[in-house]
Amino acid sequence: MIKLAIDFGTSVTKIYKLGSGIVLAEATCVTVQKDTGEIRAFGNEAKRLLGKTAEQTDVCFPVYEGEIVSERLAGALLEYFLRKVVKRGASVEALFCVPCGYKVESREKVYRVAKAAGIGRVNFAETPFLSVLGQDVPLSESNPVFAIDIGAGVTSIAAFSLDGIIAGLSMNVGGSNMDVHIIDHIADTFSLKIGSLTSEKLKNTVGSLIEDDNQSTIINGRDIKSGRPRSVSVSSADIVFPIKVYIDKIAEYADLVLKKLPAEVSAAMLKNGLYLSGGVCNIAGLAEYMSGKLQMEAHLSGDPQMAVVLGGGRAVGNAALLRRIRLE
Ligand SMILES: Nc1ncnc2c1ncn2[C@@H]1O[C@H](COP(=O)(O)OP(=O)(O)OP(=O)(O)O)[C@@H](O)[C@H]1O
Ligand SMILES: [Mg+2]
Repeated sequence: MIKLAIDFGTSVTKIYKLGSGIVLAEATCVTVQKDTGEIRAFGNEAKRLLGKTAEQTDVCFPVYEGEIVSERLAGALLEYFLRKVVKRGASVEALFCVPCGYKVESREKVYRVAKAAGIGRVNFAETPFLSVLGQDVPLSESNPVFAIDIGAGVTSIAAFSLDGIIAGLSMNVGGSNMDVHIIDHIADTFSLKIGSLTSEKLKNTVGSLIEDDNQSTIINGRDIKSGRPRSVSVSSADIVFPIKVYIDKIAEYADLVLKKLPAEVSAAMLKNGLYLSGGVCNIAGLAEYMSGKLQMEAHLSGDPQMAVVLGGGRAVGNAALLRRIRLE
């Protein structure tokens, strides 16, 4: 039996294989021929075509804000990823990493897609547990912890212990909102139209919450008035607003969760600090910014984007732990 942890993320699918480690991290993306519905490209190859395809081809993201929006496309993509990491015909057990408070109907969609892709046994666990496990934080009943995972389409916020979630929520806010907002912001400030790949790259290279950070990069786009190609130099300060708006919103909700906690739990949270994960937490200065907003220490794992699937890997390798944290 091959044991996998699968994080079928809005933007990136990550797979951990017990005995091997992380074996896949690829865009959750396909391209589809419009008239026939046929899938032409999968994963990273499909995402590279974003904004560059001919009229006859659509670039599709089968997971939107953490939720499967096309079971057909999600199933085909999952099968493609599985073929890359396990031999055809092998029996597979998989733990799917899902957002905090994931609805039963959403889970059923993942279950159907997983079964159709040939996975024998399917388990689910919520992001907050996996995020801290992936950061080597031991979970116990008596020591509650606080975690925030900021992905592309979903942010999970929770205070929890091995016994379960004490207070938590997920919200449809993440890196994708920032990318869309950056496109509008660059159009307003530089009169330049850019595509979503450029916007994401811009956020990921010069996006920063460090005050007076003066990194910059050259981006290419189309002049809105003349319609001609044009390049501009964009600095961290130029895009701080469309990043901060969403981080502030997340901090506001995290504060609400903290305020709901019983006094004893609150004290433990303050002592233990906050554990951050998710690709967006790569933004320079984010941990310090969040720490200042919430008035508590913030821990950032070495590779925040992989923390959840790493935690999933820990859980699939430990049957007793998996029984405790899996969703029934
Ligand atoms: N260096 C970086 N700086 C800023 N953002 C980054 C960086 N690297 C990745 N990201 C962003 O992180 C997001 C992807 O993170 P992650 O893989 O955790 O999300 P996901 O699991 O696919 O989505 P979700 O959890 O919302 O379903 C994307 O929005 C991506 O642009
Ligand atoms: Mg995620």
